[in-house]
Amino acid sequence: MIQLNQENRIDFDLTIATIEEIVADVEIILVINKNFDHPFVQEKTALQKAGFKGLQDETQLFSDKDRLYVGVETLSCATVRTAIATAMRTLFKTSYRTAKIASYTDTENPMAFLKAMAEGFVLGAYRFEHYKSEKSKNTIESITVSMTHYAHFSLPIQEAIKAFHAGVTIAEATNFTRNIVNTTPDDCYPEVMAKIAENIAKEYDLKCHILEPSDLREQKMETLLAVARASRHTPRVIHLAYKPQNPKAVVTLVGKGLTYDSGGLSLKPSDYMVTMKADKSGGSAVLGIIKAVATLKLPIELHGFVGAVENMIGGDAYKPDDVLRAKNGKTIEVRNTDAEGRLVLADTLGYAQQEVKADYLFDFATLTGACVVGVGNYTSGVMGNNDVPKNMIIKAAQHSGELMTKLDFNRYLKKTLSSEIADICNISNTRYGGAITAGMFLSEFIDEYHKDKWAHIDIAGPAFVEHIWGENPHGASGAGVRMMVYLLESLTLEVQ
Ligand code: BES
Ligand code: ZN
Ligand code: ZN
Repeated sequence: MIQLNQENRIDFDLTIATIEEIVADVEIILVINKNFDHPFVQEKTALQKAGFKGLQDETQLFSDKDRLYVGVETLSCATVRTAIATAMRTLFKTSYRTAKIASYTDTENPMAFLKAMAEGFVLGAYRFEHYKSEKSKNTIESITVSMTHYAHFSLPIQEAIKAFHAGVTIAEATNFTRNIVNTTPDDCYPEVMAKIAENIAKEYDLKCHILEPSDLREQKMETLLAVARASRHTPRVIHLAYKPQNPKAVVTLVGKGLTYDSGGLSLKPSDYMVTMKADKSGGSAVLGIIKAVATLKLPIELHGFVGAVENMIGGDAYKPDDVLRAKNGKTIEVRNTDAEGRLVLADTLGYAQQEVKADYLFDFATLTGACVVGVGNYTSGVMGNNDVPKNMIIKAAQHSGELMTKLDFNRYLKKTLSSEIADICNISNTRYGGAITAGMFLSEFIDEYHKDKWAHIDIAGPAFVEHIWGENPHGASGAGVRMMVYLLESLTLEVQ
């Protein structure tokens, strides 16, 4: 099986030595708000000669001086995260092995800033080279951060170190998710996803229950089984549980784990089919989040459910015109087999709610192309019946640097899902508002208890990156992981 833990781990050293005292191959310097007069900026004239303007994420390396400058608009978490990630990608083109940086304490929240900086380093260092015969040789092995201000100006150094390492953990979990998503459909199919979950359970001493096809039949998960039927890879539903003592909240996460989405008989055109290995991004995010939470030992009881299925074609395939019965008893008219994610989630959500009565229920899915059309490649859509869980997500997204926006349900779009022959149709009768109608379809499978505790996050846009942006290289981004870990961290502070 593919090696899923990070291969090139960076050693971080946080020291109270001054930046001048630290010995390293290269120094990274932030140019803040185009201010070339800052004492750290020693090559002002050379920078100007080189045409460096100090724009966000702009880099300039002086190899004779071993100094790498990188622009940040302001000194904030969101800007430093992407600037550092870009700096790391620049350093990979060099033969430097060790780097140093100052800790820049002049920010509103120095702890959050350090955490974001750590995330930038680890996210920027990510490369997926599993299928390359020749792996790249250039790598940064260690980074030293000068924490002199923390020692001399009575900033709490232990707290700072903890914040930095939390950032490392969260970003490593994001990279873990990226690795799963980037793995090809013939190397990562439902059984393999279940194995990955079992390995996490072993490593962190968690509870892991895998439902095989016979269990799925017993649980009456007929819609999920119908989607899976034409694949040579049989489906699995994963339940991974982290149960610390005295948890401050119980949270359930549900992920769409389509290890491949060919569209089924409503076959996708070739151009749209490539990248559909990334249709397991929601489920992979759930696994990464649990890994992070178990590493951080957060006092939150966390349940992760993944519906792992491959949507293929064949004589045995489910069809447009089929009527399926979901686990909660509702009948669904299938009019398009490419709207399979909502079918898999209907049953996975049903099972998750049967097994756990949660304080919050969140699902992650690369659910609709319409969400990408509506809000773009960089942003996830957040939906649900109640503003409380949705607002929690928006707030956590802002802190974590992920882009998420609310898409409101309405009763007019709801009507477009009605079926003449079944309780509901798996596609809407209008070509517009597809992200919202998919979300409203899911809401039909949320029970009374969880109605106001649930939010759905459509990560179809940011989950897979075709052109590098922010802290993301080509390929899987690990969308959802950072946001959700930040949200769970905030629950440990707010709930008494
Ligand atoms: N997995 C796709 C959605 C998707 C599209 C994710 C692009 C990432 C990038 C989903 O299963 C799908 O095919 N949805 C259809 C729904 C339609 C048939 C109502 C879509 O978006 O076209
Ligand atoms: Zn599909
Ligand atoms: Zn899909």
